[in-house]
Amino acid sequence: MSTEVKVKHTSQEVIQSLSRQLANAYLLSIKYKKFHWYVSGPFFKQLHELFDMHYEQLGEIVDDLAERSRMLGGYPIATAKEFLEIAEIDESPNVQYAPQEMVEILHEDTDVIIDALHGDIDLATKHNDPGTADVLTSIVQVYQKQAWFLAETKARKGLV
Ligand SMILES: [Fe+2]
Repeated sequence: MSTEVKVKHTSQEVIQSLSRQLANAYLLSIKYKKFHWYVSGPFFKQLHELFDMHYEQLGEIVDDLAERSRMLGGYPIATAKEFLEIAEIDESPNVQYAPQEMVEILHEDTDVIIDALHGDIDLATKHNDPGTADVLTSIVQVYQKQAWFLAETKARKGLV
């Protein structure tokens, strides 16, 4: 008996989109952890904790994406090399980032991922795969909440 979950239809394109989103979430989670470690200044505690909270949420997103792929018979990418190859966001390799800059980078990356997710939700729907569309819809809401937190943080005067 197959271990794949019954779906009306899905496609390699949908499975690939799950891997791409997995790469996005992984790279962003690394960046959150880096900024969690590197942040300093008068808002250290709030930013340190905010970055870690979002990092934890991304850990769940990563797992949901990979497991959804397995349910569809896919083999989600699971090497750092592949994550770097297909992610739609870049790493932040420098050492010196002002707190404001960290929040801006994270906000921009989150917006890129939200846009890509909207496309991937349409793709899953087009392929008669409402389960995957629903998984991605849940995920986009987490990112949208994170974007809101980042936007409000960015708007704060004195965040240097
Ligand atoms: Fe920590």
